[in-house]
Amino acid sequence: MNNHITIFDTTLRDGEQSPGYSMNRSEKLRLALQLELLGADVIEAGFPIASEGDYQTVREIGKTVKESRVAALCRTRKEDLERAVSALEFAAKPRVHTFIATSDIHMKHKLQMTREEVLESAVKAVEYAKSHCDDVEFSAEDASRSDPTFLTDIFTAVIEAGATTINVPDTVGYALPWEYGELIRTLHEKIPNIDKAVISVHCHNDLGLAVANSLMAVRNGARQVECTINGIGERAGNASLEEVVMAMKTRLGDMNFDTSVNTSQICPSSRMLTEITGKGVQPNKAIVGENAFAHEAGIHQHGVLKNPLTYEIMTPESVGLNCNRLVIGKHSGRHALCKKLEELGYNLNKEDLNRVYSEVTKLADEQKTVEDHDLISIMSMMIDLSAQVHGRVAPSG
Ligand code: KIV
Ligand code: ZN
Repeated sequence: MNNHITIFDTTLRDGEQSPGYSMNRSEKLRLALQLELLGADVIEAGFPIASEGDYQTVREIGKTVKESRVAALCRTRKEDLERAVSALEFAAKPRVHTFIATSDIHMKHKLQMTREEVLESAVKAVEYAKSHCDDVEFSAEDASRSDPTFLTDIFTAVIEAGATTINVPDTVGYALPWEYGELIRTLHEKIPNIDKAVISVHCHNDLGLAVANSLMAVRNGARQVECTINGIGERAGNASLEEVVMAMKTRLGDMNFDTSVNTSQICPSSRMLTEITGKGVQPNKAIVGENAFAHEAGIHQHGVLKNPLTYEIMTPESVGLNCNRLVIGKHSGRHALCKKLEELGYNLNKEDLNRVYSEVTKLADEQKTVEDHDLISIMSMMIDLSAQVHGRVAPSG
């Protein structure tokens, strides 16, 4: 079994479906090109039956994106499938992604269909998709709450009908890592024709476990992970692309899985999404949050200045940031202050540094952080004072 993990980005579909994240056609196209640059293997561009706008956008992305595969989502209904196939007409590498729910609760209350009817509908949809497109993905919605025996049967049947990827969504974010891993392992063992398809996972983050569940699935045989930039998506979101990819990269020696993602495009992709949607990520968000590489505590700052590996498990450069961020606050020490002042153009002797330090800590007690402009004001004040008294504190250039 190979160790390459296909990254399927669904920022433009599942991500865009969440409240406050809708994007217009040109914004989606811009982001799709960025996702291609990032190295996403598959870009799910939209749900063409949902609206004329979504249909046109998928068409446009299909025409423009050349390296990444472009996927269009559809239910198993004929009109959905036709719309998806048509939207992908000009795509260089198209994928039809069809889905139907397989859990008893969804089949009974939402679909009002029996297991037999669901299986038949799934097989027909895959056959139709396959007659128009070589690459077909089938998703069993709410798979993690479905009967594993029924899942085995339906996946076996759709692979027989031509599906090349079978997706096992944890649609409601209910699974625990060990049980989800176990489900993937069981499917891998029990589906007789599994050698003809890739197992994919699609985890939602309702319990904050989407990334852990995705990694557990990969350990147990999944070879495609569906995820989104900044972890956006329905409700609490989807597995975050940057977290999944950087976990694999940072712990390569332990997990031994790789992706085609150019990780230095992670922060630019995250920023572009934020800029387009106007929705930022929380400051402590792993990998792309404002504080992900920021250090305020003096001991940490000292360590990072001596050797970044003391408090950083990956470099900011590896995710596309130019440097770590030394934040000056009440926990900072003289080392960090000295370095920050050097960056601002001030080289101080020990005595002057102590005087500036005491001003900075006074200010840090009053406000949360001391920004560059605060430091510059303190320095100007000190320079004025000094010039009057000793002519001592001086900028370097
Ligand atoms: O969460 C889900 O089950 C989905 C499917 C359509 C793949 O988004
Ligand atoms: Zn989803």
